[in-house]
Amino acid sequence: MSHEKVEVNVGLMAILVVVVISFGGLAEIVPLFFMKDTTEPVEGLKPYSALELEGRDVYIREGCYTCHSQMIRPFRAETERYGHYSVAGEFVYDHPFQWGSKRTGPDLARVGGRYSDDWHIAHLINPRDVVPESNMPAFPWLAKKELTGELTPRKMQALKAVGVPYSDADISGATDAVRGKTELTALVAYLQNLGTAVSIR
Ligand code: HEC
Repeated sequence: MSHEKVEVNVGLMAILVVVVISFGGLAEIVPLFFMKDTTEPVEGLKPYSALELEGRDVYIREGCYTCHSQMIRPFRAETERYGHYSVAGEFVYDHPFQWGSKRTGPDLARVGGRYSDDWHIAHLINPRDVVPESNMPAFPWLAKKELTGELTPRKMQALKAVGVPYSDADISGATDAVRGKTELTALVAYLQNLGTAVSIR
């Protein structure tokens, strides 16, 4: 009997189990690549400007994501604290996305516009100056390092290749938009943009 063959042959059983499970996975995962909700940017979403993009790279390099998530979950406790829960279409231009789940500090998905630029600058140079009980590390060196913008156009080209709609003018103007600004300025520009493109706040 064919069923018995499967029951007595653990290798065959393992292969068939994998096949069955992968069908389940495919049925759940594949549609996500084609659903409008997950693949199309929400209305009003703009690609990061050259400066914001450099700020985002600083964010990644400094490991801000090890303490901060960027995804508001659809629970009341979260939406009351942070604003509207995050939707997939907000992250279409994020490569790689910064969702995360580690929250030593607050979620930053909608931090844009919540504080002034001056607040962010003071906070990043020394968090204790504005939040006395803070245990966030200080990042004073960001104010001293200037960006050259040398690689910015290539970064934008790479993003364009994976679907971020940068124009040729965006790319050719990128170096000038960034050169001479500090990493701190770029990081603050990035933070101030987070979650602001979208009217669901
Ligand atoms: C070791 C953990 C840790 C790291 C790393 C870290 N933070 Fe924080 N962050 C915190 C904590 C804790 C708070 C809450 C206290 C405060 O406001 O300082 C916070 C608060 C913040 C806030 C204010 C959020 C709000 O809604 O009030 C911002 C903005 C922020 N961090 C940005 C950053 C950036 C940008 C980086 C990387 C350069 C970074 N953090 C790295 C722990 C961290």
